[in-house]
Order: sequence, then C-alpha cells, then structure tokens
Amino acid sequence: MAHDCEPLVEISSVWGNDPAINALPADHSNLFYQTLTRRLAHLAVPVPALKVRASIGIPPGRGLGSSATAVIGGLLAAEAIAGRTHSEKQRAGLVDAAVALEHGSHSDNVAAALLGGLVATAWDERNSTWYAVRVPLPANLCAVLFVPVFSMDTIAGRELLPEQYTKADAVHNLGHLALLLAALAVGDLKGVGAAMNDRFHEPYRARIFPQLPDLLAAARSAGAHGACLSGSGSAILALTTEHTREVASELARVAQSLNVDGRVVIAELDHCGATVEFDTSPDALHHRGENPAPAEEGLYSRPLAPPNAGSTSSEEIVLHCTACARHFPLKRTDYRCICGQPLDVALGNVGTAVDGHAWRQLFDERLSSLQTIDRSGVWRFRELLLPLPGVAPITRPEGQTNLYPAGRAQHSNGHGRIGEFTGLDYLWLKHEGENPTGSFKDRGMTIGVSIARWLGASAVACASTGNTSASMAAYAAQAGLRAIVFLPQGKVAAGKLSQAIAYNAEIRQVAGDFDRAMADVERMCLDEGIYLLNSLNPFRILGQQSLAFELLQQFAWDVPDWIVLPAGNLGNTSALGMGLLRAHRLGLVDRLPRIVSVQAAGANPFYQSYQSGFTAFHPVKAHTIATAINIGDPVSYMRAKSVIQATNGLVAQVADAEILEAKAAVDRVGIGCEPASAASVAGVKQLVSRGVIQPTEGVVAVLTGNLLKDPDAIMLAHQAIRQTIT
Ligand code: F0G
Repeated sequence: MAHDCEPLVEISSVWGNDPAINALPADHSNLFYQTLTRRLAHLAVPVPALKVRASIGIPPGRGLGSSATAVIGGLLAAEAIAGRTHSEKQRAGLVDAAVALEHGSHSDNVAAALLGGLVATAWDERNSTWYAVRVPLPANLCAVLFVPVFSMDTIAGRELLPEQYTKADAVHNLGHLALLLAALAVGDLKGVGAAMNDRFHEPYRARIFPQLPDLLAAARSAGAHGACLSGSGSAILALTTEHTREVASELARVAQSLNVDGRVVIAELDHCGATVEFDTSPDALHHRGENPAPAEEGLYSRPLAPPNAGSTSSEEIVLHCTACARHFPLKRTDYRCICGQPLDVALGNVGTAVDGHAWRQLFDERLSSLQTIDRSGVWRFRELLLPLPGVAPITRPEGQTNLYPAGRAQHSNGHGRIGEFTGLDYLWLKHEGENPTGSFKDRGMTIGVSIARWLGASAVACASTGNTSASMAAYAAQAGLRAIVFLPQGKVAAGKLSQAIAYNAEIRQVAGDFDRAMADVERMCLDEGIYLLNSLNPFRILGQQSLAFELLQQFAWDVPDWIVLPAGNLGNTSALGMGLLRAHRLGLVDRLPRIVSVQAAGANPFYQSYQSGFTAFHPVKAHTIATAINIGDPVSYMRAKSVIQATNGLVAQVADAEILEAKAAVDRVGIGCEPASAASVAGVKQLVSRGVIQPTEGVVAVLTGNLLKDPDAIMLAHQAIRQTIT
C-alpha cells in the first residue's frame, strides 16, 4: 500500500480506559485504521495527512458488533476522504465492499452498522451479491444492555454450540425470526418480546454464563418486552419502551446479587447508520484533549447527522437570552433568564458545515423513506432542529400536513372560493389542524417531550387555552410521563378539554384567564421541579420551526410572498420566523417571505405594540370568541417582535365577526378549521382589501387547529354567514 503521509491515529472509546472492558489497540493494528487504509488503497487514493480520531461507543468482544462497526467507520471515512458521498439509498451498494473488508463472517453486523435500523442480509447467489433490507425500528424502542466484565471469545463461544440442531429447534428459531422481523416492522412490541426466545445459542452459552437465565428474567420482570443474549455474548440485550430505567436498575440489582461484575447501559438504537465527520479547524487538529468527551450518562453518543454535516455535542449548545446576552447550560430547566425574558436554544453554527443544496437533497430523499423519524415533518429536519446525540424521539409522527391551493387562479370553484372570499389569485392553506392531536402544537411537543425524557423528568405541565394541553397530554401518555394541565375555567373549547381528559392528564381548572393559569403553572413547576412545556420552553419553539422547513419544502424550496398566521402567546410567530431566518441563512432558500401575525381585536397587545413602532408594550384583558388566542400577556413578545422586524413583517387585528365569517368560508369548502385559525384568513382578506397585499401575490395562510376542536363555534359561524346573506 502506497501512501504519502503517515496519519496520526488516536483511538478512543466511550468506555474510557477501563481495561476490564476496553481492549482496543490504539495503533495501526486497530481495525478502524486497517480498514481505512485498505479501502483507500483499493480506491487508489493516497492517504492524506490527517489525524484520525476514532471513538467507539460499543464495548469490544461482547457480541455487540464492535468489529463490524470499526470496519464501517474505516470504510466510510475512506469513502469520504476519496470525495465519494453516498445518499442513504446509495449506501446499500457498499454492503459487498463492507462484508469483504470484514472478511465476510458477519454480513448482518456490517450491514446494520452501515444502514442503521434492523437489517436482514443474505447472499444472493444468482447475482453474486449481498442483499440487505433495512426494517425500520419503532422510534420509541430503547435498548438496555448489561455488559459483563468478562468477554466471550467468538470462536470459543461457537465451539459450545452443537454440530446439529433438531428439526423442532430449527423450526422454532425460524418462526421466531420471522415473528421478530414482522413485529418490528409493524411496531408490535409484544410480538417483539415473544420473538426473543432462542434455542440455538442461549441454552448452550448459558453453560459458561450460569447467571444468564436469572438476568434475562430480571429484565423481563421489570417491564422489558424481551431480553436475550446479544449475538455470541457476553452482553445481554433488553428491549423496552416505557420501563427503561426500571429495567436498568433491576438488571444492576440482580447482577450485583449474583456477583456478576459489569455495567448497565441505556443505549440509543441506531436508525441511520454510521456517520463520519470532518473537522478541519486548526483547533481540532492540535488542541483537542487526549480523552474523548465523556458519553452522556448511560447513553451512547451517536450524532443524528448525515455524513459531513458536522455535529454538536450537548456541551456546545447553550441556552441564550437574546435580551441580555447571558448564557446558561443546556440542562437548566428554568427557561426564564434572570432578567425575566425567555431563554432560547443557541444553535450557533449548527448546519453551516453543509451547503443549502446538500440539505435540500437530504430532506427531499427522506420524503421517500419509510422510517418513522423521516416521515415526521419535524424529525425529518432533525439535524437542524435538535442536533443532540442521545435524545430518543417520542414521535407519532407529526407534521406532513396538507398545503391546499385555494386561490382564484388555482381553482375556479371548490377550494378556489376561499380565493374569491379573500380576493387572492394565489393562496395556499397550510392545515396544521391535520397534526395527530389536531393542532400545530404537536410539532413542538414531540421535541419538548423527547427532551423531558432525555432530562429524566417524570412529570410535565403546561397552562393552555386547550390545544397545548391536548398535545402535551397525548405525547406525555406516549412517553409514560405524568401530565398536569392548568386550564382557564369555562374558557376552553369542548373538543380540546375532552382530549386532555381522554389522554389522562390531571386537570387543574383555574378561576381566571390564561395569563393567570400561565403564572400559576410556572410557579408550580419551579416549586415542585416539574418540567414546563409551554412555549416558554425553547425546545418547543425549536420543534415548531419545522413548520417553516416543511412549508418551504412543499414549495419545492421556493418562497411565497407572505405567510400569515394567528397569534396569541406568540410562540408560533416566533418559531416560524426563526425557522425562516435559519432556512435563509443556511441557503435552503434565497429570500424571505414577509410574516403577518394576526391577533383578535379583543386580545391584541402585540398589535397595539406594533402600532407604536414596538416602542411600548402593555398587556390587555383579553376577550375574544377565538378562545385559543384569548391571551393578554404573551410570553414570547420579545422573540416575536424581532422576527417581525427581521422579516419586514407586520401585525394585524381582526374583529370576532371577521373571524367567524372567515371560518364559515373555510368550513363550507370542506376544509374547516377552528375559530383562531380563521383569524389568518380574515387577516388576509382585510390586508388585500386595504391594498397591503396585492391580489396576484402568493400568500400562505396557516390554519392552526382542526374544525372539531370547537364544535360550539360552528353554529355561530353559520349564523354569521346567514346574517351576511340576508
Ligand atoms: N391557533 C391555535 C389553534 C392555538 O391553539 C394557538 C395557541 C394559536 C393559534 C396561537 O399560537 O400562542 O403560539 O401565538 N394556543 C395555545 C394553547 C396558547 O394553549 O393551546 P401562539
């Protein structure tokens, strides 16, 4: 092998220097390094001057596929050095090369490390190639590992196995394998548990690991769906959804009582395959410490990033106050700065290592993926929204809402009647009421609740005019968290209240308005250490930024002239604006639309402030029929003010009668929305009639909530039109 320079190799493991578990050669005999150089030689690319810093989160020699992972790391690093980038789909074409580099004995392991998810492989004799199929893993599935100090040598372990199996055992295992694949593919977790029952390996390997049956039983009794010996051992793998911590502590307890020395680890399942990062800064080359960043407590660090996108560790991301420029560590859970303003997640340079074209290509490719996280209109943009390793997504999935063309020039009848109503040739309705719980809140909640779990919260709370509580209750139920909602008594629409009750939230009715409920819940969260999930929470705002990305993607990365949305607590205005500004900064789009924030005239503190040129802000006593936006003292005022200014946007107000009239117009073409959502359509109509928006401009009106949220308003809206007609 010819190479110009000798690379400097630095091999590290998240298992630190624990000699009992970690026995990685830190020189050129290391498998990662060997594969890297062999692949470069195969591609006839000289080895450049580089410092290789390989970090592996998998303990070697425990049947967890560490060798295959090292091979894939080396292979992908070589591909990247050779300038060969591979889309997720194209990666499947590397399986043959990977198996050859690994000497062909673990095609299943290398393919899984390459592609992520659960991968089934077989040699396709007719075409002389390895065939690999990836089955997406259920997004909320978590692995708990028990890694004993002793290892099982693969060869010696194989010698324990019988020469021949009975037909009954073969049929048993084949049936269970089929069940495992089918159950994982459809997310049937009981089926996954039933499938994890092996007769080929465990009964024989238990001979040198006598405590194995008791440890497996311990994991199952603590709520694991299933547990088994991992590969050839010695690690034990338990799969869980809600009972991760219980399983981890029960395994640790039983191992201790049986005198088995080892470590329990909660491992994130890999959905995307290995990643390679390049850091060309002089800093990275010369001043990095000797030891790798410690793994998150009990978690493997695996960036949710595509190749070369750059990733960020939780230490690099901070909470930031835009008002006074103070910074706080990410794990702080009081999201108000000491100056009183809400804190934001400062993403710094996240996403800037890759150009807009590459991001667009990646996000567009994901549209054809069958993986839950790619199908989510939030997690599809995960690298830009939550570049934190180790956060397990709690997803339905959400987003992916329709964008209905409704302008006069787009439809002569049907939906086009909304174009007639507003006086616009080109109008689109982005229906966020088509989210899983019927409102846009699910976009922020999927990230908020995932972070709540990441932080180890056991209870979450919010104040709400209804939609936030419905969304939080649903996602908290999915994550196995206690949910407490503070609702202004008698001021929450029937559909939303019913959802919170149905999804098992604890309801606290507050004798007062939303602003009072908001103050109460903030105090309770601080006093009782409960995780607050109002839009004061910056992670919710991050999730809601996905509205901007998804909308632009539906526009094939073109930009409408205006985006109009209803405004109450101002979280959505802020998030949409921040998302658009980031999309522009990252080169996803080449210009910005103007944002219009529409308030109800009876709940209009933002409008009044806008009228004063944002020189003053006075809370109001709110009163509007659109209960969702019946808010007088919005939490995100400062955030929203800056995005209106930065997008050359504006703020409008509409009377309740205009809202009802617009709602009737949206309802009767068969689309339908709740009253607050209709404020955006009412705002569009008013701005067109005032000559602010031109009839030929392209306008998107965001419908934030579903028609069924507020059944009482339907009759009122109908009456409103009858009155206009008579
Ligand atoms: N539209 C609907 C349907 C809403 O539920 C809300 C807010 C808004 C618009 C306004 O969005 O507050 O981000 O400016 N609902 C919150 C809730 C307050 O508790 O459900 P915002």
